[in-house]
Amino acid sequence: MTELVLYQVTDGIAELTLNRPDKRNAITSAMYESLGHHLREAELDAEVRVLLLQGGGGTFTAGNDLRDFLDDPPSGPDTPVARFLHALATARKPLIAAVDGWVVGIGVTLLLHCDLVVAGEGALFQTPFVDLGLVPEAASSLLLPRMVGHHKAAEILLLGERFTAADALAWGLVNRVVGTSELRTVALGWATSLAAKPPGALQLTKDLLRSPRHQVVDRIAEETEMFTRQLASPEAIGAFEAFFDRSR
Ligand code: COA
Repeated sequence: MTELVLYQVTDGIAELTLNRPDKRNAITSAMYESLGHHLREAELDAEVRVLLLQGGGGTFTAGNDLRDFLDDPPSGPDTPVARFLHALATARKPLIAAVDGWVVGIGVTLLLHCDLVVAGEGALFQTPFVDLGLVPEAASSLLLPRMVGHHKAAEILLLGERFTAADALAWGLVNRVVGTSELRTVALGWATSLAAKPPGALQLTKDLLRSPRHQVVDRIAEETEMFTRQLASPEAIGAFEAFFDRSR
């Protein structure tokens, strides 16, 4: 069976790759389980100095699998997505993301937990939570306004319109925009440079930059409660069904 999340460690760099290109790397419950598992594994592996998150097939991710939202919605605080978000929000090793193509929903909100982000010039970003009858997750309701200010965060989360890599750069959501052919080179360049630095100092510096983490963990719990309730609402179910009915 095809592995939908690939994990490979080379020269201190753990690469995590979403590998479901036919579904634009939409993330299923099983994929969250695997992502969370590998994040924890990388944290415990002394050989790993830095992590690189990316998507295969020219796209980062179309966000949460909407079929899963209909058929097997996450419920309660201890689910694969909750375990993944906790591992992401408490990661002490540096996280780099290289994104291209579609960067939707959790594809955007997980970037707020990454330390360095490079985007391909054609990348398109969107957080359509409200249009799907949902609320923001991954502590984006806390981290995004901190990063871009309230009005820009409201524009991104309430209007939910698509925005370009150039917009993401201008708003401070990514560090650099490059041609698609350079994406991996830039990400691996950063990863190689970080992997060569003293790991203790790196982790302490990240701890300081990310402090206080309990606020982030608490906000994830608060959002998860609302998100789970909204998943069962008629407005959300109607929006998911409309997505799958669109080409009929
Ligand atoms: N969940 C489940 N399946 C998804 C998906 C998602 N989030 N995003 C895409 N897919 C599937 C499509 O159903 C389609 O499957 P099919 O070939 O079996 O019909 C396949 O992936 C390709 O999608 P398609 O819409 O044809 O690709 P596109 O390149 O024209 O458009 C997107 C890409 C991302 C703009 C579009 O797929 C989309 O809007 N996806 C939903 C995004 C979303 O709302 N995510 C949830 C955020 S919380």
